[in-house]
Amino acid sequence: MTGVARSGGRWWRPHSLRTQLLLWLITLHLGAAVLTAWFSFVAYGNLVHNSMDEQMRLVAESYAGSDPMKTPRPMDGEAAFSRGTFIVQIWSADGHTLRASSWPVLAVPLQASPGFNDVNTGAHAQSSWRVFTAEPGQRADQPRVQVLQNEDYRRRRALRRALLEGLPITLLLPLALLILWIIVSAASRSLRAVARDVASQDERSPTELSLARVPEEIAPLVGAFNNLLSRVRSAFATQRRFVQDAAHELRTPMAAIGLQIENLRAHVPAGEATERFNQLEAGVTRAQHLIEQLLNLSRQDAPQRSAAGERVDIEVLLRESVSQLMVLADARRVDIGFEGGIAAVVFAPAAELRSVFDNLIDNALRYAPEGGVVDVRLHRVDGHMVVDVLDNGPGIPQAEIARVFDRFFRVPGSAAGGSGLGLAIARTAAERNGLRIELRNRTDGLGLMARVHLPAAS
Ligand SMILES: Nc1ncnc2c1ncn2[C@@H]1O[C@H](COP(=O)(O)OP(=O)(O)O)[C@@H](O)[C@H]1O
Ligand SMILES: [Mg+2]
Repeated sequence: MTGVARSGGRWWRPHSLRTQLLLWLITLHLGAAVLTAWFSFVAYGNLVHNSMDEQMRLVAESYAGSDPMKTPRPMDGEAAFSRGTFIVQIWSADGHTLRASSWPVLAVPLQASPGFNDVNTGAHAQSSWRVFTAEPGQRADQPRVQVLQNEDYRRRRALRRALLEGLPITLLLPLALLILWIIVSAASRSLRAVARDVASQDERSPTELSLARVPEEIAPLVGAFNNLLSRVRSAFATQRRFVQDAAHELRTPMAAIGLQIENLRAHVPAGEATERFNQLEAGVTRAQHLIEQLLNLSRQDAPQRSAAGERVDIEVLLRESVSQLMVLADARRVDIGFEGGIAAVVFAPAAELRSVFDNLIDNALRYAPEGGVVDVRLHRVDGHMVVDVLDNGPGIPQAEIARVFDRFFRVPGSAAGGSGLGLAIARTAAERNGLRIELRNRTDGLGLMARVHLPAAS
């Protein structure tokens, strides 16, 4: 399974839908809260202003109309500033002398123009005052009345009200974020499930992705993907059938040609003709090998082809493989040795395991020089069981070592006779059964070491 994007961990991901939604939601919510508060500040501020002005006027009139004039009830600064209590001043008719005041500390003179005024005394931090000065009475000696209220108190009231209005929206924000988080998490979970489905696909036989539990918005994407998968599947099947049919069709005539060549051998005159004849024979053998490898390959590609696993003793299997390839070793005068000694059992189809080791040993024998040495070793490395196939050939240039597993890839200049399919077949068979092939150029001299890691449970 290849890397499936996970979206846990950091919540700040500039390309994540979740981050963007969250950011927008927070911005919108805070914006709405601020706007609401501001509107309510303005609207409620006006309301408070007008109604308090009205009350001030009523209080002033009630004093001015009383006969004899009422005395203002004494109060303190605390009442003026924190409760916004009205301060009532009674002035002499000429407006020069303050006869009585509910809070004498406050030094605001009688305003020249009757009605409402805003006055700043500068004596206090909260020194703005709303002042209502009553009109002079009809009688010349009638005292003048002036009512004052702290301006900051009014502003604070409006502000408190505004904040209260904005509060519900702000309080709803965490809830909205939580809901959004849950919805987006669920959506991204199902996306990840789809991604996992895709990642775990076997490229040889892709299966449809399930549409269950996929959000409606993503369903078309999954549907389109399924469509693509089914086309890939059929293209793959067509290609595999073609290779299989072609190889099959070639096998019989090629076998016939091989027979004819064998029959001809006795009749070939000595000299240059024998030389040519040998080349012809080698070519036919090579073609037969290629056809066999192609058939192996297309058989491997067949979907749901699961040969029954069995308990395979690796040492026995390796001995069989070596003895079967002895013909090739003899032909090339390669000294092949086998070293076993540990008990290794793998549960897998024996034919597939054979194709892993046959291909590796075949390569070692083919690419070792004439008269070279090949060693097959079953042993333990760091506690894990491995099979090493060592030769003393040229090895593989480091840059090509990953590519030799590709189908039809051969290192330029390799000895004739190969198809370029052996390692591809070996690797597929290995992977399918939990084995791992590792190619390494030998550090203890010239040559290649092919190491097969056996499954841990073996
Ligand atoms: N033991 C080896 N020593 C040197 N080169 C090797 C060895 N095994 C494989 N190769 C290189 O890897 C290529 C691919 O191997 P393979 O897939 O078995 O195809 P083939 O052997 O049919 O060419 C070979 O053509 C060869 O160039
Ligand atoms: Mg080969």
